[in-house]
Amino acid sequence: MEFYEAIDRRSSVRDFTDETIPREVIERIVGAALKAPTNDHFRDWHFIVVTDKAVMSEVLEGVPKDLTIKDVDNMTFISDPVQKSAYQFAVPKQYSMLMNAAAVIIPLMEKKVDILHPANLSHLNCFASVWCSIENLWLAATAEGYGCNLRIPLGDEEKKAREATGFPEEYMIPCFIGIGRAAEGAFRTKQLVPDIEKQLHWQKF
Ligand SMILES: Cc1cc2nc3c(=O)[nH]c(=O)nc-3n(C[C@H](O)[C@H](O)[C@H](O)COP(=O)(O)O)c2cc1C
Repeated sequence: MEFYEAIDRRSSVRDFTDETIPREVIERIVGAALKAPTNDHFRDWHFIVVTDKAVMSEVLEGVPKDLTIKDVDNMTFISDPVQKSAYQFAVPKQYSMLMNAAAVIIPLMEKKVDILHPANLSHLNCFASVWCSIENLWLAATAEGYGCNLRIPLGDEEKKAREATGFPEEYMIPCFIGIGRAAEGAFRTKQLVPDIEKQLHWQKF
């Protein structure tokens, strides 16, 4: 797939078929993630790919299963109607979009500094870098014909995933990634249209 086509086709997919993903495809996709730009030339991320449904269920034990469209009404930070409709679709699927995926991929970044209490912006470099790798992964998955979704772990979600997979204490999960073949008619988020005239500045703001 051509590069700009992958950019245009990428969107969050939260409904999947039962199709599994061949191992070599996962290796190519994670290989693309491992080529992302990185701070200090570390590129020291790890990725755990969970395809076994019993392990997946343990990994996702902390993810809320009972969120509904009504929970979106309590999210006072949403004002735009397009954003609201995206949340109304996404929020009730936070568990199923991962549990029904062919695989849950867990990126891991090493906490070399206290990133929850950064003294300056460079203390967040490892967090910024891992997100570069996540975008590479998402675009590579799109180019391979698969869809992805993301969930930021909250509360004890990371702890449960650590207990289920045994990754060391010094690693942190930036997000869970659900990946699989999009179900027919899978909902795609209505895109906010970028305004190049307004958002691109030449020389001065
Ligand atoms: C940093 C970040 C955090 C996100 N967190 C979540 C999340 O917790 N749950 C979810 O369903 N989607 C999450 N998303 C996906 C966004 O909601 C989605 O990318 C956005 O609405 C645009 O839709 P699109 O991906 O279909 O283009 C996240 C995306 C990013 C980049």
